[in-house]
Amino acid sequence: MRILTCCSEAYAQVDHLRRQGARVGFVPTMGALHEGHLSLVRRSREDCDATVVSIFVNPTQFGPHEDFSRYPRTFESDCAALRDLGVDFVFAPSAEELYPAGFSTYVQPPKVAERLEGKCRPGHFRGVATVVLKLFHIIPATAAYFGQKDYQQLLVIQHMVDDLNVPIRVVGCPIVREPDGLAMSSRNRYLSQAEREAALSLWKALTAAQSALSSGQRDARELEQLMQTTLYTQGADRIDYAVVADPASLEPVSQVDRPAIALVAAHVGKTRLIDNLLLQP
Ligand code: PAF
Repeated sequence: MRILTCCSEAYAQVDHLRRQGARVGFVPTMGALHEGHLSLVRRSREDCDATVVSIFVNPTQFGPHEDFSRYPRTFESDCAALRDLGVDFVFAPSAEELYPAGFSTYVQPPKVAERLEGKCRPGHFRGVATVVLKLFHIIPATAAYFGQKDYQQLLVIQHMVDDLNVPIRVVGCPIVREPDGLAMSSRNRYLSQAEREAALSLWKALTAAQSALSSGQRDARELEQLMQTTLYTQGADRIDYAVVADPASLEPVSQVDRPAIALVAAHVGKTRLIDNLLLQP
């Protein structure tokens, strides 16, 4: 496994592979890797001839009061795990390499970015779309793999790739959960033992909505109310949103007569967590 830090070298390596006819899979990450990330790498290894993983904690997607400076950075153990999985290249640029002095061009994210995370974290998707488009140019891969835990992010990237004719296939992969249901997240590392219990409130809220739906409750506002109540009673300190929406547009739905996506964002102590579940009527 080779570690690359320079954009032009990363481009040259991947371009060389592509010219030889190799399918190249790309897994963009911010490091602090967990089983969720590793499942993306495994999928890329199954689908493709070579796999590139990027590790870059992208400053432009964090708000001024968010956790950029304390975001976990575990480069050595990340690389060890990726080496064990047979990854070919890790691309780990510095902030100066990706955003040199004078950098001033940003991607205006698509409409699907406006609600939910877009409202709670102004500028977040502008930063995500910008860095992902840059990475797609630096790593001209065949396919890129993203987790469905960041459901709205996946939609934003899919729309961006379609709208801007980026020649890469975006593949969404299932959420990986702990045995008790907690969605794997790099931010779970922030949780104390008591907060870890309270963090389960997100999964409990989502599964409560699915159970109510299965028992005949199709009113989306009622399901949202149930998720809010479950979040608070099961330990969340503050809720940013708990909604039932159209899975493609994220617009609100009134009745769940076909699959809908339930999305929650809540704070447990100082940690903000998100999760989602496709509701099946
Ligand atoms: O999902 C993430 O880890 C990040 O948002 C991404 C896609 C690597 C962009 O920085």
